[in-house]
Amino acid sequence: MKAPILILSAGIMMAGVAMAFEADAAKAVAELKPTQGSKVQGTVLFVQEPNGVHVTADVTGLTPGEHGFHIHEKGDCSAPDGSSAGGHFNPTGKPHGAPAAHEHHAGDLGNLTADASGHAKLDWISPDLSFEGTNSFIGRAVIVHAGKDDLKSQPAGNAGARAACGVIEKK
Ligand code: CU
Ligand code: ZN
Repeated sequence: MKAPILILSAGIMMAGVAMAFEADAAKAVAELKPTQGSKVQGTVLFVQEPNGVHVTADVTGLTPGEHGFHIHEKGDCSAPDGSSAGGHFNPTGKPHGAPAAHEHHAGDLGNLTADASGHAKLDWISPDLSFEGTNSFIGRAVIVHAGKDDLKSQPAGNAGARAACGVIEKK
C-alpha cells in the first residue's frame, strides 16, 4: 500500500508548485452577464504565462454551434445590447481576422463552440495581449456573440448580436 501514498504525495507537491507559480503571475477575470433577452453567461480567466496570456473561458446558455468571442475596446457593458463596449480591441490598427492568422485584432479570440447543451469552453494562449501599458487589455470588455465569427468579414466577422458582456478586471 505504499505506492498509492507516494503517488498522492507527489501529486500534492506538484499542485503546490503550480499554485505557487500562479500566485505570482498576473491574472484577470471577466464575469460575463447576459445582454437583454439573452441567457448567455460565464467566466473568462486571463493568466500571464511565458508565451503570452492564457485565456480560459467557460460559458453557458448558448445555442449549439459557434459564437464570436472577442475583447472589445471599452469596458462598458451598460447598454442593454452590449453596444457600449464599442468595437474590437485593436491597438495595432490591424484588420479583423482569426486569432492564429498573421493579421488580426489583438482582441480577436475566434469562436466559442457550444455543445448540444449550450456549454462552451475555450483554451487559448494569446501573444497579443498585455497586462501593462497603454495597450493593456485590462478594463476592456469580453463579448460573446449570438452568431459565428466568419474570421474574415470587416470590421468584426459578421458575428451578429452581442449575447453576453463582461468587464475585464485585474485580480
Ligand atoms: Cu465581438
Ligand atoms: Zn476583430
